[in-house]
Amino acid sequence: MTKLLFLLPFQAKAALLQGEVPVGCLLVYDGQIIGKGKNGVNFTKNATRHAEMLAIEEALDWCKNRNVAYKEVFARTDLYVNVEPCIMCAGALRISGLRRVVYGCSNERFGGCGSILDVASDQRTTDSQPVLQCVPGIFAETSVQLLKEFYRGQNPNAPNPKVKKAHDIQDIPLPSLEGVQMKDPT
Ligand SMILES: *[C@@H]1O[C@H](CO)[C@@H](O)[C@H](O)[C@H]1NC(C)=O
Ligand SMILES: *[C@@H]1O[C@H](CO)[C@@H](O)[C@H](O)[C@H]1NC(C)=O
Ligand SMILES: [Zn+2]
Repeated sequence: MTKLLFLLPFQAKAALLQGEVPVGCLLVYDGQIIGKGKNGVNFTKNATRHAEMLAIEEALDWCKNRNVAYKEVFARTDLYVNVEPCIMCAGALRISGLRRVVYGCSNERFGGCGSILDVASDQRTTDSQPVLQCVPGIFAETSVQLLKEFYRGQNPNAPNPKVKKAHDIQDIPLPSLEGVQMKDPT
């Protein structure tokens, strides 16, 4: 395992420290981070500012700056996120043509990889949008801890995030991250 993915819990922790639901993510293409995001809903007072949406925007800029077609890049890009993407984000990621999502714990409130709706692979779309693969289990325990930390004392009706499949990180068929460089986008 390279150093790269260990940035993921730090992204989530950074959101937590800013008073946000602790969700952070990385978009990885060809061994490079081309987009990253941490939840910014409270800070921006904008309900669409989820980590994944911010990461997509960064990655689109990355493509634009290099004058490459985003569809070609996204078709070989994976998202690493500590919580299952919500319905909105799963839809956005699928429409963007992303290859795969590797997530932490399940999102029992809004999950779009099957916990609530299977936006990622539902076939009832009109334009035969390719399926967005979702693989659970990366940093799942850490994610649950961070969410519990956030909800502690916040909301008596707080959801109780669960680790759906407590994979060991080694069990996930991750793409090879050999030679990955810790490069900032742009
Ligand atoms: C959201 O931001 C406001 C300031 O705009 C802050 O007072 C509040 O504590 C934040 N919410 C959470 C859950 O941290
Ligand atoms: C929230 O963010 C989106 C995306 O940047 C933007 O289009 C929208 O206008 C924003 N909404 C508000 C209420 O600021
Ligand atoms: Zn979302």
